[in-house]
Amino acid sequence: MTESTKSILVVDDDRHMRNALQEAVTRIGYRTVLAENPADALDKLDGISVSMIVTDMKMPGMDGLAFIKEARKKMGSLPILVITGYATVENAVEVMKEGVCDYLMKPFSFDSLTGAIESIMLRGSHNGREIITDSEKMKKLIQLAGNVALSDMTALILGESGTGKELLARFIHKSSRRSKKPFIAINCAAIPDNLLESELFGFEKGAFTGANEKKSGKFELADSGTILLDEIGEMSAILQAKLLRVLQEKEIDRIGGKQPVPVDVRVIATTNRDLLKEMEGGKFREDLYFRLSVFPLQLPPLRERPEDIKMLAEHFAKRFSLELNKTVSGFTDEALEFLAARKWKGNIRELENAIHRAVLIAGSEYICVEDFMLDEYPSQCRMDNGSLKDMEMDLIFKTLEETNGNKTKAAKVLGVSVRTIRNKLNGHGKIFPAG
Ligand SMILES: Nc1ncnc2c1ncn2[C@@H]1O[C@H](COP(=O)(O)OP(=O)(O)OP(=O)(O)O)[C@@H](O)[C@H]1O
Ligand SMILES: [Mg+2]
Repeated sequence: MTESTKSILVVDDDRHMRNALQEAVTRIGYRTVLAENPADALDKLDGISVSMIVTDMKMPGMDGLAFIKEARKKMGSLPILVITGYATVENAVEVMKEGVCDYLMKPFSFDSLTGAIESIMLRGSHNGREIITDSEKMKKLIQLAGNVALSDMTALILGESGTGKELLARFIHKSSRRSKKPFIAINCAAIPDNLLESELFGFEKGAFTGANEKKSGKFELADSGTILLDEIGEMSAILQAKLLRVLQEKEIDRIGGKQPVPVDVRVIATTNRDLLKEMEGGKFREDLYFRLSVFPLQLPPLRERPEDIKMLAEHFAKRFSLELNKTVSGFTDEALEFLAARKWKGNIRELENAIHRAVLIAGSEYICVEDFMLDEYPSQCRMDNGSLKDMEMDLIFKTLEETNGNKTKAAKVLGVSVRTIRNKLNGHGKIFPAG
């Protein structure tokens, strides 16, 4: 092992489990830092840099969820693998909300553990770091984004869904002097307006009924780092005014707070709406628009950079082949033509999902057109409902096999919700191990 070998923090109160985890981690080439309980782990996080946390959920002193929240405050977007014997769907969802990367249920096999760790580490080294492109337009944009990164300016990233807005935002963060500090993303469209304010700015104890203790908002959690306000076009007029104040004064008002709290945060906003139009229609504040759009970064849709399709497809094939333990090494010419001819309305995300599924079902070293067939149904292969269902169940079982029965992972691979998978499995009658 070299000096630069990455370390993984392992937190478990059970000594035997800790040792087993250490052995697994060491065997796949990472160092371990061991902690017996959350308090010990949080102490250790202060002194050393780790690339990932593997933690138990039920431990003395502090439960796993509280620990994850604390660790997030210290480490920002560090990948976390949760291990638990007490899983219910509810706390799985709760834990996933904290940005936990994966979830393993006891008892698990050695292979499913090392598989989960390797897949997370792999994602970590690809996701958010590497922007793959061969297009001149994109190269210019990345250069511009690099310049924005060096300044402390607010940036506005525009682009259709799936064009890489979040990836570019992470690139700016990683290339900035704030790179070691938190990167916190919040989706303004996903949170109801009345909750969004407390999510962003936090509240004091007693600020409203149910505010039993003080809570920091995302701006405070992102202090000295970067906050990504995703889908800013969805923000209400009242919050737009509050955000403008934050940008101007560099301080936030907690709900129920007596005085403003200073924050040092770079704001990056994204939208797939035409903000100029929204502004003209009176839906978006003009002053906020001009404040945000000092550096508009426009991501071109995939159809405007066709030269990227092959490069991205090969990149994703390589990545998923490794992740899924396959030996796919490329595409047939016909498959490449097929990819080049598609419209890609969902842009890179759609391409990524298509390749993911194709790698999963590929039966040989080269992905062929048939491996994309599922994306096309029901329009192209006119099957009756029954065989369509069979095929769907086949795919679900195949995916569950690949993910060692991990439904959360399978849901991600297939681009559906965990609930959908559960419902389909329930309706099907075949028993699959819990997970
Ligand atoms: N140039 C690229 N190279 C490699 N991966 C990319 C590239 N662009 C996008 N991706 C991948 O495509 C997926 C979608 O990207 P991202 O989430 O950044 O898009 P988005 O514009 O924020 O989408 P949405 O509007 O749906 O939120 C991600 O998995 C991302 O890693
Ligand atoms: Mg996004």
